[in-house]
Amino acid sequence: MEQDSAVIALTGIHKAYGSGEGRVAALDGVTLAFPAGTFTAIMGPSGSGKSTLLQCAAGLDRVDEGRVRLAGVDPRGMSETALTKLRRERIGFVFQSFNLLPTLTARQNVELPLRLAKKPPRPQEVDQVLAELGLTARAGHLPSELSGGQQQRVAIARALVTRPQVLFADEPTGALDSRTSREVLALLRRIVADQGQTIIMVTHDPVAASYAGRVVFLADGRVVDELADPTPETVAARMATLEPADDEPTDAGPAAPAGVNPPDDEPTDLSPANPTDAELAQAAPC
Ligand SMILES: Nc1ncnc2c1ncn2[C@@H]1O[C@H](COP(=O)(O)OP(=O)(O)OP(=O)(O)O)[C@@H](O)[C@H]1O
Ligand SMILES: [Mg+2]
Repeated sequence: MEQDSAVIALTGIHKAYGSGEGRVAALDGVTLAFPAGTFTAIMGPSGSGKSTLLQCAAGLDRVDEGRVRLAGVDPRGMSETALTKLRRERIGFVFQSFNLLPTLTARQNVELPLRLAKKPPRPQEVDQVLAELGLTARAGHLPSELSGGQQQRVAIARALVTRPQVLFADEPTGALDSRTSREVLALLRRIVADQGQTIIMVTHDPVAASYAGRVVFLADGRVVDELADPTPETVAARMATLEPADDEPTDAGPAAPAGVNPPDDEPTDLSPANPTDAELAQAAPC
């Protein structure tokens, strides 16, 4: 793929955590490019490196080896301050846990990235993004007065208000019911179609992945497959071949069920995402 023209290009990325016996190769030689205006879903079993991939691609975490090109620049030589500025201006991030500030209204949450970038929020810009996300009538409400889907739409509006080159979403529908999830996913897809937004989304859900134009499958820190024009069925079928845990299943049925879920051997990985420091810094780096 055209590594040079892509908004995000990863070439031979390696990233390990820990050392000695406890060393985990979270990413083990990943090469991927994400062209502008495309919607990509990243899938794979729990622990396969999806969140690590997003963190490295977004410049939230540094890689051990390989090259990242992020919105046209190489973050390797950049200072933390320059990297923070780059992320604030060119990258949007949405998480499973909406990470809204509870004491700010929806509108004030959306204005936050502009204030942090020392750009006085222009009311029309904020109005427009609120309208795009269907939040005009809810703008004056606190997060606790909004439904889960509305809160996630506020988080998406906040991520988009700086008109970033890439929107990263890590399990954006993981805390939503299926109807609300579909609404949020349809919105993401519309933003790609209408505005040429680039979106990279991690998900466990084949239905969510089917809203993307392309699905990349990870296993053990490596890209093992890709699907174009995915459907829930084609994604679930591919995931079923990746899901079997390496410790032997107690009663191996003929096939994994279509509703793909993470394997149940790693309960710690399955708990709802706790925002990391980097996530919180992204949400409220004051
Ligand atoms: N900060 C960390 N310290 C140590 N190990 C880590 C850290 N972050 C991730 N890992 C390990 O790296 C591997 C990849 O983790 P990652 O969170 O990227 O997986 P994932 O595909 O996002 O999983 P999930 O679907 O459960 O969210 C896992 O084995 C995980 O335990
Ligand atoms: Mg993850």
